Amino acid sequence: MRIIVAITGASGVKLGKRFIDALPKEIETFVIVSKNAKTVLEKEEHIKYFEDDDIAAPTASGSFKCDAMAIIPTSMNTLAKISCGISDNLITRTAAVQIKEQRKLLLAPREMPFSAIALENMLKLARLQVIIAPPILGYYAKIEKLDEMEDFIIGKWFDLLGIEHNLFHRWGED
Ligand SMILES: Cc1cc2nc3c(=O)[nH]c(=O)nc-3n(C[C@H](O)[C@H](O)[C@H](O)COP(=O)(O)O)c2cc1C
Repeated sequence: MRIIVAITGASGVKLGKRFIDALPKEIETFVIVSKNAKTVLEKEEHIKYFEDDDIAAPTASGSFKCDAMAIIPTSMNTLAKISCGISDNLITRTAAVQIKEQRKLLLAPREMPFSAIALENMLKLARLQVIIAPPILGYYAKIEKLDEMEDFIIGKWFDLLGIEHNLFHRWGED
């Protein structure tokens, strides 16, 4: 499996990094970080890392084969651009490619509260089969620490992308 993970400048950049860290090593991972994402990711062996202004990177083309893209977190800025079809950097271009090629795209919008503009942008994209999965807390998985809550959210994203994991205790399981 091949996955593209993008990180934009919303609060919760750490979640994007932990998502990448938790990915099984056999998944080929391509990472794009927006200029406004303040935290710089450490390069890891199984990760290919691209700058957001590298518009000629492989992921900018529909001919680049990949199974899914996740943007974690997704800023309202990037959400708005994607919903309008704007492709002015590598993240928005790659997302536009995912949509046109009808491939899996997961967005984790991080804002509170959401404006009507953001909600309309999400609805428009959801109708195009884009997965809208904000980092929302869950309380049924015997969670006691922040790390465990983050694992729960990352596990939900993995479920949505079809990635096997053991990150949280499932409801109804011992
Ligand atoms: C510390 C900090 C936290 C931010 N948190 C958010 C946020 O949670 N959600 C959001 O939509 N924008 C947030 N922003 C604003 C975005 O960084 C800004 O809209 C930026 O233009 C996003 O650019 P990008 O989409 O290219 O990453 C935050 C900015 C800063 C400096």
